[in-house]
Amino acid sequence: MKEKILVIGASGLIGQELIHQLSKIDYNVIAGVNTRTIYSEIPITQVKIDLLSQDNVKKIIISESPDVIINLAAISSMQKCEKERDIAYNLNVQGVNYLLNSISCLENKPLFVQFSTDHVFNGFDGKNGNYNEEDFPDPTNYYGETKFDSEKIIDQSKSLDSIIVRTSLTFGDYRYTDGNRPDRLHQMIIKKLKKGENFEVDVDSVISPTYLEYLCEGIIFLLENQNRGTFHISGRDALSKYEFAREIAELFSSEYEKRISLREQQGDIKNTSLNVQKITDLGFYQLGMEEALDIYKSKSDIFHH
Ligand SMILES: NC(=O)c1ccc[n+]([C@@H]2O[C@H](COP(=O)([O-])OP(=O)(O)OC[C@H]3O[C@@H](n4cnc5c(N)ncnc54)[C@H](OP(=O)(O)O)[C@@H]3O)[C@@H](O)[C@H]2O)c1
Repeated sequence: MKEKILVIGASGLIGQELIHQLSKIDYNVIAGVNTRTIYSEIPITQVKIDLLSQDNVKKIIISESPDVIINLAAISSMQKCEKERDIAYNLNVQGVNYLLNSISCLENKPLFVQFSTDHVFNGFDGKNGNYNEEDFPDPTNYYGETKFDSEKIIDQSKSLDSIIVRTSLTFGDYRYTDGNRPDRLHQMIIKKLKKGENFEVDVDSVISPTYLEYLCEGIIFLLENQNRGTFHISGRDALSKYEFAREIAELFSSEYEKRISLREQQGDIKNTSLNVQKITDLGFYQLGMEEALDIYKSKSDIFHH
């Protein structure tokens, strides 16, 4: 059995896929869940952890004493972060502080992997996206600010063995979690089109759509190759949300594609697309959009009923 990995936020979109991929290659995976649970055909140990409670975080980190902690827990909706700034700060920033304080009590210090986002970048600075790991973050929304703050906390913890993974709009399926959860962009599009309705994209911005299964393979690639530092893992191609919506619709039919429209654009287009050359140079091949969509279509049930 390989190392013990505690995945916090295991019941989220990325977490539920990641814990399955890790379990299949024999890591000792502990799924850190908050309000939801994981269901699975393979046995997975679940522990309840609440990043808003310093005492609870300390108790769990000390009792589990993992070799690796992967922190995916966050309020990741931009709108929710703007509306509920206190909770967003407490979870996205203070929660990371609680984790690092708890790690300092452990004799065997774990590797700490923090998830971040393309929204740490400005997107309006005329750079046309394609941000690499050396580009300086300059977030323009509260979600991006909190994620940049979490990165700074990690960077300032000099003795911490750490990886920061930045990714962009992720698409894939919830296969192993229960409970109601808000639909992601690709799920909203699919639901509307299947009901015979049109879908209007209301905010256009350029992002690097990222196929969920591939993102998780990238994280495992970094772990297995003992990489440390900041890495971008995302789809290779930059697309506007409108183009992405049309690509998803086209997976069903060209009729569906025609039912996607863009609400009249107001203001400049934000481009926070990511450059993935660093991890590509290390040997992890990043999928282009067409390849990713082909794999998604061949694997997902949503296209078949
Ligand atoms: N998905 C994307 O497109 C995307 C893009 C860029 C970056 N990211 C980053 O990737 C990470 C994972 O994203 P995701 O989309 O998988 O997130 P998600 O689906 O929104 O899941 C969030 C997770 O956080 C957990 N959580 C909420 N409150 C908590 C608390 N008080 N204590 C402990 N855990 C708590 C949730 O647990 P329960 O469900 O059990 O309540 C859930 O497992 C985030 O850091 C996000 O910023 C995501």
